[in-house]
Amino acid sequence: MEPHPRDPGRAAWALPCLLLLALPGVDAQAGQGFTLQQPQAKVTVTAGDNLTLICTVSGIAGPGSVMWLKGWGSGNKTVYDQNNADPSSRVTAAVPGSDTNFTIHIRNVQPEDMGTYYCVKFVKGAFGADEVFKHGSGTEVTVQAKPSPPLVSGPEQRARPNDSVPFTCTTGGFFPDKIDVKWFKNDNSMTAQQPQVTQSRMKTYNMSSTAQVTLQKDDARSQITCEVTHPTLRAPLRGSFQLSRVLRVPPSVKMRAEPSPAEVNKTVAFTCLLKEFYPANVSISWLENGIEIKGQNLSGPREVSRGLFELSSRVEVQATEEKNGSTITCRVVHDGQAPANDSAVLLISNPTLGGLSNEFQINKDDMLIYIVVGVVCTVLALLVAAILYLIRTKQIKGKSSPSARLHEPEKSSEATTQESDPNNLTYADLNFEKERKSIRRMVEMSQQSEYACIQSNQAPNGDDNLTYADLDMVHLSKAPKRPAPRPEEAGSEYASVQITRK
Ligand SMILES: *[C@@H]1O[C@H](CO)[C@@H](O)[C@H](O)[C@H]1NC(C)=O
Ligand SMILES: *[C@@H]1O[C@H](CO)[C@@H](O)[C@H](O)[C@H]1NC(C)=O
Ligand SMILES: *[C@@H]1O[C@H](CO)[C@@H](O)[C@H](O)[C@H]1NC(C)=O
Ligand SMILES: *[C@@H]1O[C@H](CO)[C@@H](O)[C@H](O)[C@H]1NC(C)=O
Ligand SMILES: *[C@@H]1O[C@H](CO)[C@@H](O)[C@H](O)[C@H]1NC(C)=O
Ligand SMILES: *[C@@H]1O[C@H](CO)[C@@H](O)[C@H](O)[C@H]1NC(C)=O
Repeated sequence: MEPHPRDPGRAAWALPCLLLLALPGVDAQAGQGFTLQQPQAKVTVTAGDNLTLICTVSGIAGPGSVMWLKGWGSGNKTVYDQNNADPSSRVTAAVPGSDTNFTIHIRNVQPEDMGTYYCVKFVKGAFGADEVFKHGSGTEVTVQAKPSPPLVSGPEQRARPNDSVPFTCTTGGFFPDKIDVKWFKNDNSMTAQQPQVTQSRMKTYNMSSTAQVTLQKDDARSQITCEVTHPTLRAPLRGSFQLSRVLRVPPSVKMRAEPSPAEVNKTVAFTCLLKEFYPANVSISWLENGIEIKGQNLSGPREVSRGLFELSSRVEVQATEEKNGSTITCRVVHDGQAPANDSAVLLISNPTLGGLSNEFQINKDDMLIYIVVGVVCTVLALLVAAILYLIRTKQIKGKSSPSARLHEPEKSSEATTQESDPNNLTYADLNFEKERKSIRRMVEMSQQSEYACIQSNQAPNGDDNLTYADLDMVHLSKAPKRPAPRPEEAGSEYASVQITRK
């Protein structure tokens, strides 16, 4: 006798139950009045929670255990065996040792626990094998499962700005299959294809959604987000992806030579400026006519706007004549890509046509020569000036003597001949005081004064005038006594010379 699992025959169980209770210990008529109740038709449980499956029996049956099976027919699995309970199992009896209550707990239910569970009473058959005696109508267990945190994946290779790149958001292990997906770039929502929901082997569902993103140059700091909504979730789950992981902005490479053209033997600085690149890993090498030379970084790559980097490197080259026309190249390998380069030609200005700057540039040796020549010239100029001065002062003396010449011609001859006469020869250095009146007074008082009339070039204009007469070699002759001098012409001055007499 094999009762159909889907036919519980619930209406019929009450009476045999009462009969069994009324007639205990009826072994001979095993099976009569035995009933088995599995009251739950459907149970929904959230993954991770505990599940309770209820099964009670009454009445008497032959020997044989009560078990819980998951599934029926081929592929059934024993979940619990009354006589063979595994204490380490997730499945435990709710009332251990009970003969009538075979309710079980299943801890930490997982999606794979989903299925229909049957409570089954076995009895030993004729050949000692277990035979199904009675079973419940089955409890359909549904495990509601939350989706796993969404994962966003991008392309394997980096991509440049303006490339359209697919991103995929996946989540799995959820139940039921109803799920909603939204995409955002930073905070702006994006359009995407309908999510693809597939059944996974664990009776749960997996979801995959793809969105195309067109990269921008300033996306180094952008992120895209996939947001998943599911009935099991109180708040949406999010997964995100930094676009810096897939963005590659190649540098612009610009070379500059300073100065250009350069003068011979001067140092020329070549600067290679790498602008707006991402990521930062870049290597620079310098070539002179294709042969590597050593450069120097002005700084490490530094972050400028929008997460992009900038770097400048520099190399100095001695502008020797034979290097005229050399090509200096800055070669840049960015992020393992094909090298980019920029070049500049070393130009040396022609020394003869080299421009004004060349002639004004005086080096140290030249400077010494200029100094020596300058000193010599200055000394010569001073000498010439001194000679001219001497000549001129002599001429001036020649000219100025006529003012005293009044008496000179006749007296110079007397000076030599009348040397013996002490009254005859007098040398005077005449210093005219401005106090003319006192002189006059003196002249008037002393009858022994001699008078010399000196013609001055300029008429004295007033009492403040001071006149010096240097009467070198003026020969004064003894003049006969004269009355007090009469007023003279305006241009005259009087000097009184005291002559000592022996
Ligand atoms: C359970 O499966 C075994 C074989 O795996 C089968 O022999 C047995 O009849 C099945 N039991 C039920 C109740 O379907
Ligand atoms: C479903 O997603 C899980 C991760 O969430 C993954 O391990 C599993 O392989 C996926 N199954 C299928 C059929 O895609
Ligand atoms: C440049 O330097 C070289 C070697 O140092 C020297 O022979 C040459 O004369 C220099 N030329 C000039 C214009 O200074
Ligand atoms: C300069 O920096 C670049 C990139 O970081 C590197 O490849 C290069 O070797 C550095 N050069 C020097 C001289 O440090
Ligand atoms: C520089 O780049 C050009 C292509 O842009 C290439 O043809 C040339 O060989 C490169 N030169 C060097 C020295 O790498
Ligand atoms: C260097 O080359 C340029 C052109 O190739 C030329 O005009 C200039 O005169 C040269 N300079 C020297 C110093 O030879």
